[in-house]
Amino acid sequence: MKQSVLDVHQLNKIYGKKSEKQFHALNSVSFAMAEGEFVGVMGPSGAGKTTLLNVISTLDTATNGSVKIAGTDITAMKQGQLADFRSSQLGFIFQDFNLLENLTVYENIALPLSLQSVAVRNIKPAVESVATKLGIEAILNKYPVTISGGQKQRVAAARALVHEPALILADEPTGALDSKNARSLMETMVHLNENHGTSIMLVTHDPLSASYCERILFIQDGKLYKEIHRNSTRSAFHQDILDVLAQFASPDMD
Ligand SMILES: Nc1ncnc2c1ncn2[C@@H]1O[C@H](COP(=O)(O)OP(=O)(O)OP(=O)(O)O)[C@@H](O)[C@H]1O
Ligand SMILES: [Mg+2]
Repeated sequence: MKQSVLDVHQLNKIYGKKSEKQFHALNSVSFAMAEGEFVGVMGPSGAGKTTLLNVISTLDTATNGSVKIAGTDITAMKQGQLADFRSSQLGFIFQDFNLLENLTVYENIALPLSLQSVAVRNIKPAVESVATKLGIEAILNKYPVTISGGQKQRVAAARALVHEPALILADEPTGALDSKNARSLMETMVHLNENHGTSIMLVTHDPLSASYCERILFIQDGKLYKEIHRNSTRSAFHQDILDVLAQFASPDMD
């Protein structure tokens, strides 16, 4: 058994103070992710997917329960430690890329290292290596306005990876892409996962994107509802995913 990169134990998130109307967004969620796994998270709108990702990513705090990343319990950390932990151990890919328009592609990718005060002589080889992995070496000196949507997405992926984080967290990264670019980003993620052992957690509404994962966790009303593994082909897994989503859509689920 490989070491776990993520251990979520009895996680609860309740929005709102005791005196106000409260909302239980995560309800006793427990699961683990092995190092090098590629896990998808799906479920209806409002199910708690982003909340789960935000708590794991230390951007939001749990009401109770624990989250361990690469063996470290982040729910016990103080704010200052959290910021350091986040910048060294985690990589993020969001739907809207979040590239800084007045920085070049190179500077955007280098940002996590600059923020960690990595020595300049070590930044160049790290940026070049990740740019090569993602096939964007030729556009390093361009500005984001001059590159395509798919290239922007690969730059965002490169920035998420440049500091070799323990875990990549992606929330709807294909949401704003056309099908060609969505497929290309998913293939990039599979490549990173299979050839570089990158652990990835992907939140998505798109069954086709999800079919690139090895395992899908389905969340409903803040609870882990079901979990399925990919056993054979991607197209068979795609069908399995559609079958579970059809159960969500059926009226007797309400
Ligand atoms: N800051 C907040 N205060 C109160 N309730 C919140 C807050 N953030 C989220 N919620 C509620 O928690 C629930 C889960 O929200 P979340 O954003 O995690 O859903 P989601 O599964 O990511 O949905 P989507 O697929 O639409 O992105 C929703 O009902 C939402 O209204
Ligand atoms: Mg969401």
